[in-house]
Amino acid sequence: MERVSAASSEVLVGRGLPTPVLPPRPGRRRVAILTQPGPTPRALEVAALARAEEVECEVIGLPDRDEAKTLEVAASVYEAMARFGVARGDTVVGVGGGSVTDLAGFVAGTWLRGVEAVHFPTTLLGAVDAAIGGKTGVNLAGKNLVGVIWHPTRVAIDIDLLEQLPVPLLREGMAEALKAGLVGDPELCQVLMESGLEAPLDEVVLRSVRVKAGIVDADDRERGIRAYLNFGHTIGHAVEYASSLSHGESVAVGMVAACEISSRILGFGRGDLVRSALATLDLPTHVDGLDAARVRDLLRHDKKRDEHGLRMVLLEDLGAPTIRSVGTEEIEMGLAAVGLSAG
Ligand SMILES: NC(=O)c1ccc[n+]([C@@H]2O[C@H](COP(=O)([O-])OP(=O)(O)OC[C@H]3O[C@@H](n4cnc5c(N)ncnc54)[C@H](O)[C@@H]3O)[C@@H](O)[C@H]2O)c1
Ligand SMILES: [Zn+2]
Repeated sequence: MERVSAASSEVLVGRGLPTPVLPPRPGRRRVAILTQPGPTPRALEVAALARAEEVECEVIGLPDRDEAKTLEVAASVYEAMARFGVARGDTVVGVGGGSVTDLAGFVAGTWLRGVEAVHFPTTLLGAVDAAIGGKTGVNLAGKNLVGVIWHPTRVAIDIDLLEQLPVPLLREGMAEALKAGLVGDPELCQVLMESGLEAPLDEVVLRSVRVKAGIVDADDRERGIRAYLNFGHTIGHAVEYASSLSHGESVAVGMVAACEISSRILGFGRGDLVRSALATLDLPTHVDGLDAARVRDLLRHDKKRDEHGLRMVLLEDLGAPTIRSVGTEEIEMGLAAVGLSAG
């Protein structure tokens, strides 16, 4: 297993589950294992290994996807944990995609003012992005409006499991892996461009995790460079809200637009590589038939505005991100490059 540290977390990347399955602790211990509905075979496997390590486990099924990320679900988990007797030295485990680890991290960070969290991400997006870095949260009127930064002590990523993922889930994670490459690892971009969805997941995951871990280590609370991880997400989020595209597909389009803006403002010259990497990953580089006026409207109301324009992450080169205020004219050029011309 490769071990990467990210703030106070150890991220283990390997094949199969680690031994011991949970970071060891002295004394009696109870563990609440949160997972997708089912419960999933992976959660039962983690529970069986933990029981063999003399840990008392309760598996708690959550609603699927973002239905898991509500205060109501958190409250029902707190009640289940109270009945089971999860105490200060105990652990909350998340086994699932980003929605499960976001909720599990939130519950761990708030139960008894914070108990240990451990994550077993089961999606590629979860492994390269959501489970790492300590951001947790639930949705209210908007996404992730309530949350805490709460680092898991361990994130265990099983490449064998990720190799079984259905293609749509693979593509979602690959969009974030390419983002990690663009902001911090040019060689990862090269690997993704050459091999697309066939790229070796060991290498893709390890490289993406190292980029995210490096950034989170330097800026845990997003006062500065952590924002680089939002590359492609400003226009990407607007596209996501205005379309039926998935998060990864929308971010793919957002990255193309951000590359175009980067080329206009900073002379970034690798937009073609980004487009070709996205094409080999079977991710979109433009959108058809979308309500362009709605995308503009969403961008006009984006919170990240200052007097000069919209603050966006741009690229000077592969692996060299920077943050700039972008004016309306340049935003229009970015939108035009992805098929969202005005009128
Ligand atoms: N905390 C962060 O820093 C961060 C970063 C990025 C995204 N997120 C959050 O992550 C969430 C999205 O995560 P996601 O993309 O992993 O989606 P998800 O957790 O919603 O899961 C997507 C679907 O995949 C299924 N699934 C999970 N593992 C599977 C497996 N091994 N095989 C087959 N199906 C499986 C789930 O049941 C679900 O139906 C969003 O809520 C987003 O806000 C958080
Ligand atoms: Zn994202």
